[in-house]
Amino acid sequence: MHRFHYKGKELYAENVAVRKVAQAVGTPFYLYSIGTFLDHYFKLQEAFKPLNPLICFSTKANSNLTVLKALVNQGSGLDIVSGGELARAKKVGVDPQKIVYASVGKSQAEIEEAIRSKILMFNVESVQELEVINAAAAKLKTSQKIAIRINPDVQPHTHHYITTGSKENKFGLDMETAYKLFVEAYRYPNLQFAGIHIHIGSQITESRPFVQAIKKCLQFIDSVSYNGSAVEYLNIGGGLGIVYSKEKPQTAQQFANVVVPLFKKNQGLKIVLEPGRFISGNSGILVTKVMYEKIAKTKSFLIVDAAMNDLIRPAFYGAYHEIVPVTKKSGKKKFAQADIVGPICESGDFLAKNRKMDSAAVGDLLAVMSCGAYGFVMSSNYNTRPRVPEVVVKGAKFYTARRRETLDDLFRVEKIVQEVV
Ligand code: LLP
Repeated sequence: MHRFHYKGKELYAENVAVRKVAQAVGTPFYLYSIGTFLDHYFKLQEAFKPLNPLICFSTKANSNLTVLKALVNQGSGLDIVSGGELARAKKVGVDPQKIVYASVGKSQAEIEEAIRSKILMFNVESVQELEVINAAAAKLKTSQKIAIRINPDVQPHTHHYITTGSKENKFGLDMETAYKLFVEAYRYPNLQFAGIHIHIGSQITESRPFVQAIKKCLQFIDSVSYNGSAVEYLNIGGGLGIVYSKEKPQTAQQFANVVVPLFKKNQGLKIVLEPGRFISGNSGILVTKVMYEKIAKTKSFLIVDAAMNDLIRPAFYGAYHEIVPVTKKSGKKKFAQADIVGPICESGDFLAKNRKMDSAAVGDLLAVMSCGAYGFVMSSNYNTRPRVPEVVVKGAKFYTARRRETLDDLFRVEKIVQEVV
């Protein structure tokens, strides 16, 4: 469910005509429906109410400050993976006790800054990292909560690039090593072994792998508790899939219906969720303009002004994004099959391949749907293309939350080194 819909022939984001935004800011641009982000957040919160979870929105999915602030104002915490994301979290004033910090490669400086900021806990991914966090906490004369990220070795049946909880992935520690760490927790006097963390992958549409992984964690918690460790938190990560095309993902309620009963025996355990895509994926679109149309015998191409540097998911994962007209036209379908491509000099620069599309003429606006997660955040300046604006809609109003970059923005950090030319 999302709040992008047609009124007559015009595509609207909430109560704003997308065409109006294009007139105001030019193309391409990302457009976010704040109402949709909040709807999804509340859906998850409502479904998991019996467990009273801490929901930490995964900042990496969409780190726009306005989006983060809107979620934080409703009580969301944040899942972060870098010093940069910590800085964002601070900018939006989230309660630091609602920040969880994952990543296989946290630097010492990042760790110290996070400890000083009094975050709730680190999700630790290796033994060496544990040592570094312990030393940092000792240096700062404090005690820091950590969760051990377990790799539960389950198959989430998603794209192999976004599978993270099977044993060939770089994430987390195997059960045996994790168990040993809990038993030897006394070796880390400045750490509190407070939790277990898993994140098994992304865009997972079925509940089975989650259930398998959670059951393994609960068994693990039982066995370390038997040994005297008090595990306070189970962080079940993110990964809930959404509809891009014809997927039939579980709803928040269906997911909660299978997950909540698993915790019957562990009433005191605090649950953390780290959803990214579920909250943000369908909350944003990328709007682009048709620049040229190339109709060849075998294949047609629509050349649009957005490219792989603006949205890399199709090129990188072969991801499908629905593409719809901003203004519907009457008339028959022209393209049996067209590639929607950008101006970048790579064959991999496409937003869609072999797509059945309504006819589109030069100057027409198209909306690339479900771009609210891993869209703008993964964009780059490839081909020296300034990054596009992020516009937010609430009700009948829209605002630019991040302006279009200028070439000056790009050149500000670069110079010609006279000594070598
Ligand atoms: N927690 C951790 C530790 C994660 O690594 C991730 C995502 C999440 C939570 C949020 O996962 P989500 O709920 O969004 O599935 N760029 C890829 C997705 C990469 C996901 C990375 N980790 C894409 O465009 O599909």
